Amino acid sequence: MFSFSPTHGQSMAECHADLLEAACALTDGEPDGIANMANVAALIWQFLPDLNWAGFYRLVEGELVLGPFIGKPACIRIALNQGVCGAAAATGETQLVPDVHAFPGHIACDAQSRSELVVPVLRDGRVIAVIDLDSPSPARFAEEDARGIEALAGAIAARI
Ligand code: SME
Repeated sequence: MFSFSPTHGQSMAECHADLLEAACALTDGEPDGIANMANVAALIWQFLPDLNWAGFYRLVEGELVLGPFIGKPACIRIALNQGVCGAAAATGETQLVPDVHAFPGHIACDAQSRSELVVPVLRDGRVIAVIDLDSPSPARFAEEDARGIEALAGAIAARI
C-alpha cells in the first residue's frame, strides 16, 4: 500500500512540491509507462484541489490518444488542430485557459469543466504526451500551477 497523504491547509506551492516528490518516488525504477501515468494521474487528483479531470493524452502517430486519467470518460482521439490539448501538443507550450467557453475549439468532455491547464510532456525536445487538468471552477489555475505541472512533466518524461 502506498500512503501519500496531502496535508490540509497547505499553499498551492507546497501542494505542487509534495506532488512532485510523491510522483518521483512512486515512478522511480518502474519501467512501465502506463503504470506510471496511472499513478501520476492518481497523485495529481489526490494532491491538487478542485479538479474534475486529471490525466494524460499520448501523442501516437500524429494524434493525441487518451491515456490514464481520473474523471468522467473522455474523448479518445484529439487531432493536433483541435481543442486545448491539441494546441499544447502542436505548439509544445503550456495552455492555461481561465474560461474554457472562451477558447475557440475547446472540446467539452465534461460539461462541468470551466477552466483547464494542459502541459506538454517533452522527451528529447519532442512532445510525447500532454497532462490535462480540468476544474469546475472558473480561473482555477494560476501560473504556479503551470510551473508546477511543467516541473512534474519534466520529471516523469523519461518514465512514461
Ligand atoms: N478539453 C480538452 C479535451 C480533453 S478533456 O478535457 C478530458 C480539450 O479541449 O482539448
